[in-house]
Amino acid sequence: MAQQLNVPCYVVGGYVRDVFLGRECKDIDFVVVGDGTMLAREVAQKIDCKIKVNIFKTYGTAMFKYMDLDIEFVGARKESYSPHSRNPEVMQGTLRDDQLRRDFTINAMAISLNKDDYGMLLDPFDGLHMLSYKIIKTPLDPSITFSDDPLRMMRAIRFATQLSFSLDESCLKAIKENCHRISIISKERITDELNKIIASPTPSVGFKLLFDTGLLQLIFPLMANLQGVETIKGKAHKDNFYHTLEVLDNICKTTDNLWLRWAAVLHDIAKPHTKRFEEGTGWTFHGHEDKGARMVPRIFNELKLPLNEKMKYVQKLVLLHLRPIVLSKESITDSAVRRLLFEAGDDIDDLMLLCEADITTKNEFKKEKHRANFELVKHKLKEVEEKDNFEVTSLNHLTQK
Ligand code: CTP
Repeated sequence: MAQQLNVPCYVVGGYVRDVFLGRECKDIDFVVVGDGTMLAREVAQKIDCKIKVNIFKTYGTAMFKYMDLDIEFVGARKESYSPHSRNPEVMQGTLRDDQLRRDFTINAMAISLNKDDYGMLLDPFDGLHMLSYKIIKTPLDPSITFSDDPLRMMRAIRFATQLSFSLDESCLKAIKENCHRISIISKERITDELNKIIASPTPSVGFKLLFDTGLLQLIFPLMANLQGVETIKGKAHKDNFYHTLEVLDNICKTTDNLWLRWAAVLHDIAKPHTKRFEEGTGWTFHGHEDKGARMVPRIFNELKLPLNEKMKYVQKLVLLHLRPIVLSKESITDSAVRRLLFEAGDDIDDLMLLCEADITTKNEFKKEKHRANFELVKHKLKEVEEKDNFEVTSLNHLTQK
């Protein structure tokens, strides 16, 4: 169709990157040197005349869905940004202009779909090398890229976390210098990126970068507040930020459930608020689970996370996260186990995963002790559940007779 309309057309951006990385990608972006919306209409018409094409005139983009693919067409463009908005002014440009305006060199590669050079890779900023060196780098001076569209600072850290890439030195420096610009980005978009970091295999990579660049302090100050160690009379408490990251990485080995991962992020969130130094005892954080659970709705609201049953689930896990271990320290009675089973309900297995991920002590002796206690509680939970199920079944049997 592009040939018929006499407009050069290229597949570009994330799809090209993912082809080289061997990752599945359901979004295909085409850049057209000319009218992208017209080509989109013609292509959709040719595939199936019932396809609805959405057109965004201001940006000269058009998109439609075909099977499980999101297909987008954009006219090659130059952009210029004003300091208060991430929405640029758009002018027609060449393919190179269009590649230059993109966020990272690995996202700025294009493949020709034109007859003369079909399949040719057009990679003016060496994206392919950066893919093999695993480096996130911007095509332009990074200060311009990040100041133009500050969401890209989050994207840089998110890609580094998802793909296990490093940030180029100049990129890292520019994020530190421009982090305050994140204030013009909507909370929803920031949280989208945060969720992608949390959904990655090792989210601590992203959170450490967010902290080291100063972004975390701006987008999620309560979490940044967990960082730090205080020492009184030679007694230091652990750094709750790095502990939280360890718990988060641990839980990621056992679950893909984003909300269980959020529970790991928030399980100790109230520690700075409940911290006390008591003579004789040392550092305590009494009631942090209760206070933390009460903080969850405000945090979800602030981060524009859903205020629904997902939030209640996270709240419940934060509230109960100490209970299995506390239980193991007492002599475990059936009634205490029943109370926990009742309060955790269907989420008991997730609570146990969180509790297990929370064992981060480096002291092998303590670790073994915690694990043994934990196994004991697990065993007891199963035993009581089975006993109760047996009693219910026997009772049903009797009443039916
Ligand atoms: N892009 C950009 N700046 C942004 C967002 C996107 O330059 N803030 C460009 C990049 O070239 C990117 C392409 O638009 O590859 C498509 O964006 P998007 O679909 O959001 O990202 P992907 O790179 O495809 O990755 P993901 O789907 O994981 O977000």
